[in-house]
Amino acid sequence: MQMSDGCSAIKAEALLREWTESASLVKHGLAVARCTESYGFREAARRGMSADEASRLAELYRCAGLLHDFDYQRHPTPEEHPFVGVKFLREQGWPEQMLHAILAHAEYSGVPPETHLDKALFASDELAGFLTACTLVKPSRSIADVEVAGVMKKMKDKAFARAVKREDILRGADLLEIPLQEHISNCLRAMQEHAQELGL
Ligand SMILES: [Fe+2]
Repeated sequence: MQMSDGCSAIKAEALLREWTESASLVKHGLAVARCTESYGFREAARRGMSADEASRLAELYRCAGLLHDFDYQRHPTPEEHPFVGVKFLREQGWPEQMLHAILAHAEYSGVPPETHLDKALFASDELAGFLTACTLVKPSRSIADVEVAGVMKKMKDKAFARAVKREDILRGADLLEIPLQEHISNCLRAMQEHAQELGL
């Protein structure tokens, strides 16, 4: 694959599934990808892109989501993740912008989130996990029943989904320069639109 070919979400998803046995880690990749994809479409609209350009940009964003943790199960240590994955992807010719975003999602990598794609990936990572947690405590276990106000409330409940770093979610909204509520609403809608794919 050459840079000019852009990104193929089909190839990205196949790679994620090839490297990842954990069903929940696959679902995490799919969920983050739908959130980042929605930010790709927003960015394309902001830049006044044509429909074709917009879908290519959104696919790049989606690929970043699909692949940001694809090496995590095989190489979970901070010495290896996401560096081993990025090296592999670079050898395969995946776009540098996507590799930069994957590096930047790990704060310890030393690569700061700079581009809109970097920021969208960083911002979507913890929030997608939190929205999944908010869904699984609903009696229906359906993301259709999750609302922004409820998510905001649960953000303040420290005992709930303890492993999810609230500060990363807040920082993500800051990086994107949008209010937290808007960020939650964007990701929630993106995940609701793909509820079947995400098993939510
Ligand atoms: Fe992640």
